Formats: sequence, structure tokens, C-alpha cells
Amino acid sequence: MATAHPSKETANTSKTVKEPFLSDVRMLRKQARAHLSEGVMTPAYGADVDKTIEILQSVLATEIVCVLRYTMHAVSATGISSEAVKKEFAEHAREEQEHMMKVAERINQLGGTPNFNPEGLASRSASEYVEGDNLVDMIRENLVAERIAVEHYRELIKYFGDKDPTTRVMLEGILGNEEEHANDMHDLLIAHEGTPNLPKH
Ligand SMILES: [Fe+2]
Ligand SMILES: [Fe+2]
Repeated sequence: MATAHPSKETANTSKTVKEPFLSDVRMLRKQARAHLSEGVMTPAYGADVDKTIEILQSVLATEIVCVLRYTMHAVSATGISSEAVKKEFAEHAREEQEHMMKVAERINQLGGTPNFNPEGLASRSASEYVEGDNLVDMIRENLVAERIAVEHYRELIKYFGDKDPTTRVMLEGILGNEEEHANDMHDLLIAHEGTPNLPKH
């Protein structure tokens, strides 16, 4: 009866040969048990974890600065038809806070300590904290900050690629949200100024 299914046996053999990249399940289980203190860090983690944490500290600072800027604008914007804009600023502040939390949680998962220290915050951040003198200035500064965030996160997504898919997917989600923010600020700028007045490139 052993020779009754020669084709099946051949198929199994060729499958094993064709998928050498799949780790042996017993080996995976053994490795997972052997390095429990490393948390989510496993031997297949493809990025330099210290570098990942350093990058994410900068992303965290960027998000904190965005929370602060939008919150300040939401409270202090004045002028005709500022109420709708204030509401938009407040909504963005809430979403920036969600980004901040996601990034901080990821740093923690990777074994780092999220840096919330106000000292040096502005220099760790990719975007700037600009108060703006009036409603249009505020909208413009937020659009500039969003465009910086979008550009920065696009680069980081390429950097992480397959090396750290979890961080990449998190950043892709945040990027989608930042693109919406940039679009909202662009629309507001046109509504309040008539032109986005930003250099095209
Ligand atoms: Fe954000
Ligand atoms: Fe944003």
C-alpha cells in the first residue's frame, strides 16, 4: 500500500524543496520560548531596533508638537467664521493625540521608553510649532506642518518596508490621516484666502 500514492509523496517532497524560507515550526516555538524577555523582538526582526526606536522618538515628538499647535489654534483662533475652523483644529488635535499614543505604544513594545520630555521637544520634531498671527496664518502653518509630516512619513514607510511591517503599517495608517489633514487645511486656506499660496514642487 506504501506505493499506492507515489504522486502525493513526490508533491510533498517538491513542496519542501520549494519553500526553504519557511522556518521549521518546532524551531520557531523553541526560539519563542528561549527569548521571552525580548517581548515582541524575535530573530526575524529585520530592522535595527535601536534605530527604529530613535526614528519613532522623532515621530513621537512630531505628533506631540502637532497636538500642541492644533490645540493652541483651536482655543485662540478668532475672527469672522472662525467657529467652523476652530472645530476643525480641535478635531485634528484629537487625531494627532491618537497618532501620538500609537507611536508611544510601539516604542514601548520595542523595548524603548517613549520620550515625552518637553526639553528638546521642538528640535526632535520634524514639524515646527508656529502660533500664527491670524486665522489664515494658522491654517497656512498647519498645512505646512502636514506637508512636512506627509513627506517624512512617506520616506519612513519606504525605509521600514519589510524590515518592520508592524511599524510600517502603523505609519501607513497615520499617513492616510495626515493626507486628509493636509487636504482639509488646503480647502480651508482656499475658502479663507482664495489661494493656497504655497510653492508648487
Ligand atoms: Fe499626526
Ligand atoms: Fe496631521
